[in-house]
Amino acid sequence: MKLLKNLVGWVDDRFPLMDTWKEHLSEYYAPKNFNFWYFFGSLALLVLVIQIVSGIFLTMSYKPDALLAFASVEFIMRDVQWGWLLRYVHSTGASMFFIVVYLHIFRGMMYGSYRKPRELLWLIGVAIYLALMAEAFMGYLLPWGQMSFWGAQVIVNLFSSVPFVGNELSVLIRGDFVISDATLNRFFALHVIAIPLVLAGLVFVHLIALHAVGSNNPDGIEIKKHKDANGIPLDGIPFHPYYTVKDIVGTVGFLIVFCAVMFFAPDMGGYFIEANNFVPANPMQTPAHIAPVWYFTPYYAILRAVPPMFGSQFPGVVAMGVGAVAILFLPWLDRGAVKSIRYRGPIYKMFLASFVISFIGLGYLGMLPVTPIYTLISQVLSVVYFAFFILMPWYTKIDKCKPEPDRVTFK
Ligand code: HEM
Repeated sequence: MKLLKNLVGWVDDRFPLMDTWKEHLSEYYAPKNFNFWYFFGSLALLVLVIQIVSGIFLTMSYKPDALLAFASVEFIMRDVQWGWLLRYVHSTGASMFFIVVYLHIFRGMMYGSYRKPRELLWLIGVAIYLALMAEAFMGYLLPWGQMSFWGAQVIVNLFSSVPFVGNELSVLIRGDFVISDATLNRFFALHVIAIPLVLAGLVFVHLIALHAVGSNNPDGIEIKKHKDANGIPLDGIPFHPYYTVKDIVGTVGFLIVFCAVMFFAPDMGGYFIEANNFVPANPMQTPAHIAPVWYFTPYYAILRAVPPMFGSQFPGVVAMGVGAVAILFLPWLDRGAVKSIRYRGPIYKMFLASFVISFIGLGYLGMLPVTPIYTLISQVLSVVYFAFFILMPWYTKIDKCKPEPDRVTFK
């Protein structure tokens, strides 16, 4: 014990170790009323670490070469010691990352966590989400299966619909006129090092921004308004040990679900790994039905819902892009008198519910083949999706909110 104390003292004389520990853990005061929804930030951090560690080990046996990539993944699955586990940790982790992040974003929407003073924290979050989508998209090409190849082909082709610079842009992304070995190599570089670095940096600033303004909570009121004589929020509790222990509970629960999926249904019936991706990429044979992985399908459905104009898909591409970044504008669209759904009126609740239904509905339709009736439903749901944002300044203003309590509620 004395040795440890001496060691910490030695480090502390040279680096603010204990100061950092206190500022961000043992003397960081978080609202005492966190609930289930507050698990997902720490879980996102956990999945990020899982993905980086499993990814490093996968890279040791994977070959980023169009002639070898598919076989190297099979090699990992069959011959590398524990290779099957590494691969399934990583593929399950990808889908779990999006589940966790979608729930994390939804929590922010329910409790108005994007509103003043947390706008920048929210914007950094949106940047993380975009980086995560890029990371997942590029990672999906690496197994070089039929879906990897044709999915990338469809998505990169969308860039060629951009007026004037489209063709050059898509060639720049691919490094070729079609998806090829050059594309595989650059996607590998971006997936393995460039985007993970960006992600790690963004997550770091996300947490710094969070600690600068302090956490929101399910009541959507600021705990900093009521402090004791020592300047400690009356409704705050030290993050460590209270929330470190709470987060361990979340972590264990989450890992049980994670392992259940990974060991018993790693492809999740084709939702986490598509059946066509067990077939090697064949540039000469287009699969009958191409759909992205589930976490992209809401935006894919929006893309398909918008009819081409003058033979160009560009309007659909714009709608898809705007759909993906729309949450960025929430801090400036919401005019509600209160932040949390607990004290909002019925109109906001109705709009939020219809937003969730449209997002899930679009996600489902985005996986199905195109038929006139599905296109019509996608168009209706796209309108509902965008109405949530466009009408927000109006309905949040007229909504009849309940009075907020002065102090957080805690049972
Ligand atoms: C790799 C992805 C992410 C990680 C590791 C991460 C991590 C965290 C952590 C640890 C917290 C504090 C714990 C909690 O409140 O749950 C947090 C809070 C928050 N995050 Fe994230 N986050 C990620 C993505 C996002 C995204 C995509 C958004 C929004 C678009 C976002 C918005 C927020 C907001 C607004 C808060 C404060 C919530 C509150 O106090 O009520 N985060 N994040």
